Amino acid sequence: MERKRVMVTGGAGFLGSHLCERLLDYGHEVLCVDNFFTGRKANIAHLLDNPYFEFMRHDVTFPLYVEVDEIYNLACPASPVHYQADPVQTTKTSVHGAINVLGLAKRIRAKVFQASTSEVYGDPDIHPQPETYRGSVNTIGPRACYDEGKRCAETLFFDYHRQHKLRIKVVRIFNTYGPRMHPNDGRVVSNFIVQALKGQPITIYGKGTQTRSFCYVDDLITGFLKMMGTPDSFTGPVNLGNPGEFTIKQLAEMVIKLTGARSKLVYKPLPQDDPLQRCPDITLAKKALKWQPTIALEEGLKRTIDYFEKRLVDERSAVRPAKKPATRSR
Ligand SMILES: NC(=O)c1ccc[n+]([C@@H]2O[C@H](COP(=O)([O-])OP(=O)(O)OC[C@H]3O[C@@H](n4cnc5c(N)ncnc54)[C@H](O)[C@@H]3O)[C@@H](O)[C@H]2O)c1
Repeated sequence: MERKRVMVTGGAGFLGSHLCERLLDYGHEVLCVDNFFTGRKANIAHLLDNPYFEFMRHDVTFPLYVEVDEIYNLACPASPVHYQADPVQTTKTSVHGAINVLGLAKRIRAKVFQASTSEVYGDPDIHPQPETYRGSVNTIGPRACYDEGKRCAETLFFDYHRQHKLRIKVVRIFNTYGPRMHPNDGRVVSNFIVQALKGQPITIYGKGTQTRSFCYVDDLITGFLKMMGTPDSFTGPVNLGNPGEFTIKQLAEMVIKLTGARSKLVYKPLPQDDPLQRCPDITLAKKALKWQPTIALEEGLKRTIDYFEKRLVDERSAVRPAKKPATRSR
């Protein structure tokens, strides 16, 4: 296979680090660009010795000049806790980040991939959501910095495609989970697992009857690579996610079973604009990419629980006070 030079923005994050790893496995050179806003050095530490891997600390809201064949644009905090911490920066990261990445792609004629999101559908009126659904987003709500930022980024991608004949690939990612998720960013899978492993009560917002679909990270990354490999005429947007729908309560019960925890369920009010149902229609991905998820929720949860178990052990041993030096007895 032809070795390509590939840039991954947001490469030190949850999805980005898995993508970098897979691209290296396939024999490509990887330039990982990240400002560590939500990413961690630990996510890419195992890649740093690889001669085909390079890391650049950079904020995508500023232009960058590099020579690459393909760009995956993943830079953006993805969880409400993080993207609402600095909403102006979130919109800037999506919009200015897209402008900078697209400007670079135009100059060097690189193919460019956008990690968009199911949040472009907002609180949807139809289920499951096909790509043709235009969405129902509250433009002034607390989630708008992320949702509207991502919508505007899609607009920019399609305008660069129409106006400058840029080769673009846009995917709309639905809830994805797996190792290297942030332990405390409020995303439901990591939240439940960490609470269960610490023996704490599991917090459910609302009645727990709202549904989500959960895609394991390895399946999603396969979808990214398949998308990048489609003919130039195929731009997307295409939904990537797992159409299996579970209620939040079912997820909590599964986590309790798999961790063997004795955690109780506690209920809190549903946050504003939290969608009640979210499920991808992946008909297009099946047809155009010959892609569909293969890893069942229970299997993916086991792998994720293993990761968090190890991480919690590492964190505990890191904070344990050093042993006092032995004093000589007289
Ligand atoms: N994980 C999901 O379920 C999901 C769902 C929908 C969309 N997405 C999208 O996928 C992408 C990756 O998400 P993730 O789950 O890996 O989140 P993440 O927070 O782990 O990763 C985002 C990465 O982007 C970096 N970043 C943020 N702002 C930056 C900036 N201005 N300049 C450079 N780097 C910056 C962060 O440091 C981090 O490493 C995001 O664009 C997100 O919107 C993810």
